[in-house]
This record gives sequence, C-alpha cells and structure tokens, in this order.
Amino acid sequence: MHRRRGSTSARGGSRALAAVLTAALLLGGCARIEAVEGWTPPAWPETSGVQLVVNAASDAESGSAGNGESGSSGAGDDAASGSGAGSDAPAPAPDLNELGFIENRIRNDALALNLRSVELPGIHAFNARVAEVVTATIASVGGTFVPEVYPVAAGLSDRGCVAGSTTWPAAEVLSDPRTGPAGGSGLALTCEVTAATGSVVGVTMRTVLGTAAEVSSDTRLTLYADLATDSVFDGGELWSADAAPALWTAAVKQVRREAGGLSAAPLAAPAEAQVALAAQALASARFESDGSAVLTLPAGLASPELAGLGVEATPEPTVLRVAAETLAGWQGEVAQALQQQAGQPFVGLAPWDARQPVNCAQQACVAVTYDDGPTQYTGALLDALQAERAPTTLFMLGSAAAGNPELVQRAASEGHEIASHTMSHPDLTTLKPAQVRSEVEGAAKILSDLTGIPVTMYRPPYGALNAAVLAAEPMPAILWSIDTNDWRKPGTEALVERSVGAAVPGDIILFHDTHAESVDAAGVVMRGLKDRGFTPVTVTQLFGGAVPGGKVTKR
Ligand code: NI
Repeated sequence: MHRRRGSTSARGGSRALAAVLTAALLLGGCARIEAVEGWTPPAWPETSGVQLVVNAASDAESGSAGNGESGSSGAGDDAASGSGAGSDAPAPAPDLNELGFIENRIRNDALALNLRSVELPGIHAFNARVAEVVTATIASVGGTFVPEVYPVAAGLSDRGCVAGSTTWPAAEVLSDPRTGPAGGSGLALTCEVTAATGSVVGVTMRTVLGTAAEVSSDTRLTLYADLATDSVFDGGELWSADAAPALWTAAVKQVRREAGGLSAAPLAAPAEAQVALAAQALASARFESDGSAVLTLPAGLASPELAGLGVEATPEPTVLRVAAETLAGWQGEVAQALQQQAGQPFVGLAPWDARQPVNCAQQACVAVTYDDGPTQYTGALLDALQAERAPTTLFMLGSAAAGNPELVQRAASEGHEIASHTMSHPDLTTLKPAQVRSEVEGAAKILSDLTGIPVTMYRPPYGALNAAVLAAEPMPAILWSIDTNDWRKPGTEALVERSVGAAVPGDIILFHDTHAESVDAAGVVMRGLKDRGFTPVTVTQLFGGAVPGGKVTKR
C-alpha cells in the first residue's frame, strides 16, 4: 500500500492539501473533525456537479459510515444513527443491515480466510452472484479448502455484513477480528448494505488481501438486486463507456484544485490503470436518497499535473459526491432505472424460509433432526427454528401427522424437510417386506398429501435396520451419527454438550420433539452450533440435494 505523501511545500497548497488528506483519512473511518475552510480562486471553472467530500461521516448513510466513525470499537448502530445527524439531517434511516438478510460467514484458518456475505430470501439471481464471488474469493488464495469449525462459543454466529466495513481503511478490515482473518493476515471478504430503496437492494462486497504490515489488494464490487424481477446487476454495468474517464478527470481536477493548482488546462490522457481506479469507484457507487452518489476512488490517483504540485499519488482514497444531473450523463439504461427508485420506500425482503440453497462444500454443515412428531411441542420448535433461521428435517409419524395436519403444513411452508418415520413406530426388522413398505410409505403418503411435497426418505424407528428392510424399501434410510439420548431427559446442559460440543461437519444429530426439554434447548443448540461455525441444514441440503441410497448415518 502506498504510504508516500507528496511534498506539502508546493506553492500555497499546503493547507489545501492537508485538507484533502484529512478528508481522505476521515473517510477511512477515523474521528470526525471540522471541515477546513474552503479556498476558491477567482473565476474558477466549476467541475459541474462534482464535489470532494470533506465530511463524509455526516453525509453518508447513518447505518454504515456512521458506524465507521467508531472504527474497531464495535459500537452499536444506535449510537451511530444519533451521532451522525446534523441540523439538516433527515429522519434517521433504518439500519440497512437489519432488514432480514440471510447472513453467512466462513472462517478458515488453514487458508487464512474470513468471508462475510449476505443473501436475499428467495432472490436466486442475486444469491447466485454472491455465491460466485465467495467461490472465486476462496479459489483466489489457492490451496485445498476444507470447511472448519471452532471451539464452543467461538462467536461465529455473528454473520453477514458489518456496517462501515466497506469504507474502513483496508488495514483495519484485516485487523478487526469481526472482518479480518485470524491473526490479521490473509484474506477478508466483508460486505455492507448500501442501498435499499423501492424494490432495489445494493450490497457492496469488499475483498482485502494482505498482512498486518502491508495491504496487497483492496477491491470492491456492488451488486444490485431488483426484488420485483429477481434480476441482478453489478455496479460496473450501470455506466456508459465514457463514465470512468470522465470521473477520473473530475477527480484529478478536484485534487489539483485542493492541492492549490491554479491551472484549468485539460489534463493529459490517463493511463488504463488510472481509469480503472475510477471504474472501481463507479462499480461501488453509494447512491443517496437525493439521487446523488458518493464515489470512492482508491488510493493511487496520479497524473503529471498532480506530480507537478507534489502529489505523486494520492495516499488515501479520494471520495467525491456527484450530483444526480452529472450522474445522468454517465449512466446507462440500468442506472437510469435504478435512479428512478431512489428515495422510494423499500418494499422489504421476503420472510426467511429453510429452503435456501446451502453449499456444504463451503459451509461446515450439520443436520439437526427431530423424530416422532408432530406433537404439542412442535409449534414451539418451529418458532425456535425460525428465530435462529435454522432448517431441520422432521421425521414424522403418520399417526401423529394425521392428528396435527396444521403443524405438518406449517413446517413445510417454512421450508423444513419432512420425512417418514413410519405409521406406528414398529421395529421394521420384525416385519415382512410388504408391511415395511406399508409402514414407511403409508406415512409418506399422509405427509405428502398434506404438504404437496414428495417424501424422499425415512428413518427406521429405534434405528432398527437390516438387509431385509433395506431391500424392502427403496427410499434412503436415514440414521444418525450423534444420538443425544434426549428421551432420557438429561437436562439442557447435557443436551447442548452432546450436540454442540460433539459435532463435526457432516454429522446428523438425533433429537425428539416429543420432549419439552429437547424443544426448549433447540434455540440454544442451533445458536451454539452456529457459534462454532456450523451451518444447520436439512438432511437433503447436507448432501447437496442428492441423498445417497441405502443406510445413511452422516455425510
Ligand atoms: Ni422414533
């Protein structure tokens, strides 16, 4: 990372240059200070609609830049929304990161990764693009990736975006334990929700690679989802071909002016790498409710004209606010459509459901399962799973399902997987083949008739399984790799220790929703697993949609 600063002895420009540097540092998340009084030469030719942001902390979204002020201190969003408000500030914006995103996090110490991302319930095109970014980020470091989990209470249930983190100094992204890899050296992927207006959501994803001593790369990409059409586009697709050169020119002119340069002469044509800085700023534009946008050019802005003023290369990002009218001249059709939604009330995200695709080659997946329901406790179980956003597979008895159809339907509508646990809970190894099929498939028919979703697996009662049962019933027979023995009522602490404490990626864990104790512990169990870095999934998700045939005990 460039740390060199230009000489500040250039004629009359030292104060102004200091202001530029201060502004840039500010934007990087340091303490907010007063703007330095502006200096305007007579008859200065204005660069229409472009202004250097001197005090971004009070300008930008309260939920994001506001939190950046507090840097790594981890202050809550409440403080941020209050402190950033100026006299002309509009009503505090809602915290964009609390809108109901699906929050992900992959920590991998072997490859020195900490990857945070969000997905949108039911918005497949956007989620696929996020998955591409995560996959490419993992691939970029080389090496063999194996999902990792960490000791109990590792804190990894803290997932998703971190407000402010896309505008922190890059070194802080690496060093902050929320966003950086273990030890502060390696690769960080962080994100921030930068737009939620009308039916459009914008999420900026930032990748920082480096060591504690040196940042070697720092890139941003903003993805936009249109919830109305399930379409996705990235920030680079917003702009016309001449937007990046125009932004670069405007930025250099602003820096030249702030550095005391009196010339209004045209600039020498920029090198490709210089235009790329502007393109990156455009790709991660932050749109404001008035239709303007805040554009952050990475450090390294350079031109012969700036060099002549003692600025070899800007040492910190240059942040510009560009007016809506100026943007209009730079925008392609996609951006114009986006612009029309600026300032509209956000339509909101769909509620979470358990059907969200999960990549268990990347996530440390574990399938927590519940047997013998539905019961009077199943509703409370579904509440706990909803609160923890944890999918499960429920192995239901045909007899119980027939008496509690609404619970079966609720579980299915919330996306959980429902499978057969036979009609009447017999030991299948004692039955003739036709009876085996009748027990397993009778329950499957009741369940699929209630939900409209085919049942594709069963669990033999007592785990009693032999070759004859496997030969009689073609559906996969799902056993387990961890038995919590919850039917013995060992107490919550033991249930948590036996599940959260013992799990390894790929496990299938057995509970029963016939016991109040098991259901009471469900939230703690799911949270505890996530805190270790696990992602709870259904059995089918555990196998990426292709459950193997025959006897299955774990992935
Ligand atoms: Ni059972």
